[in-house]
Amino acid sequence: MAGIRFGLEDQVFLVTGGSRGIGLAIARELLAQGARVAICGRKAEGLQAAAGELAAGKRLHGVAAHIAQEADVERLFAETLAVFGRLDGVVNNVGMNIATGVVDAEPGMWRKVIDSNLNGTFLCARKAGQIMRSQGRGKIVSISSLAAHRAAPAMGIYGVAKAGIEMLTRVLAQELAPFNIQVNAVAPGMVRTAFSQLFWSNPEIHAHLVKSIPLGRIAEPADVVAPTLYLLSAGADYITGQVLLVDGGASAV
Ligand SMILES: NC(=O)c1ccc[n+]([C@@H]2O[C@H](COP(=O)([O-])OP(=O)(O)OC[C@H]3O[C@@H](n4cnc5c(N)ncnc54)[C@H](OP(=O)(O)O)[C@@H]3O)[C@@H](O)[C@H]2O)c1
Repeated sequence: MAGIRFGLEDQVFLVTGGSRGIGLAIARELLAQGARVAICGRKAEGLQAAAGELAAGKRLHGVAAHIAQEADVERLFAETLAVFGRLDGVVNNVGMNIATGVVDAEPGMWRKVIDSNLNGTFLCARKAGQIMRSQGRGKIVSISSLAAHRAAPAMGIYGVAKAGIEMLTRVLAQELAPFNIQVNAVAPGMVRTAFSQLFWSNPEIHAHLVKSIPLGRIAEPADVVAPTLYLLSAGADYITGQVLLVDGGASAV
């Protein structure tokens, strides 16, 4: 991100799922831009490893929290406010998939994927909206997926959950616009993280994927970072209710 400044110095951001992958990359760049950042994940070890890697001292705060559990979400936001005093933006980055067809899925699998993706994003966006409404400003960016736009094998429930997140984005954009709060989503195609390793580490699937991407490669976490920071910045003050596809052009063909 060398040379790109987003004007986020001293602002406070919460990145859910910031202990690895895309969330960690977003947290790293927010810190590099001079912001203060809270991250969450379910596992304390993941948060400790991220804190060690980011080496940001008091500008970083980690909270072990499950975003689909209301009490955890309350604690996550309360701690963020207690430590940093305000909240300028939230990145709803947590996501997970269970690789299964919908017809073959057990109802418990359906519930787990909807819970961790859609219900958890609702709980965090709801809390963020309440806090930001009282501040009279704020930005909410949720990480969706190309899977919300195209049915993909073994990603069906996940795609339904992400499509729900995109509609939630539009609904909240409308509800929160009178309070100067912008709500948007970023929808990446395949990104090289542990989450999607099952797909990109398979040479046949990887070759097939790359053929469908005009820019000729899958994304790295860094490719998702600048679009997200842009939507968190004052440069995006007149953009709300939008989904920015970050997919190397895959959805354009
Ligand atoms: N990678 C891709 O190809 C791709 C493509 C399109 C969209 N996305 C989306 O991008 C986002 C980030 O994906 P990623 O690839 O970076 O995933 P990842 O590497 O699996 O990281 C997921 C992060 O979320 C945390 N997490 C998972 N479930 C949680 C829960 N219920 N409550 C709190 N924290 C939780 C994990 O920490 P713990 O395990 O400690 O909880 C970890 O920090 C997701 O929304 C994903 O759907 C990814």
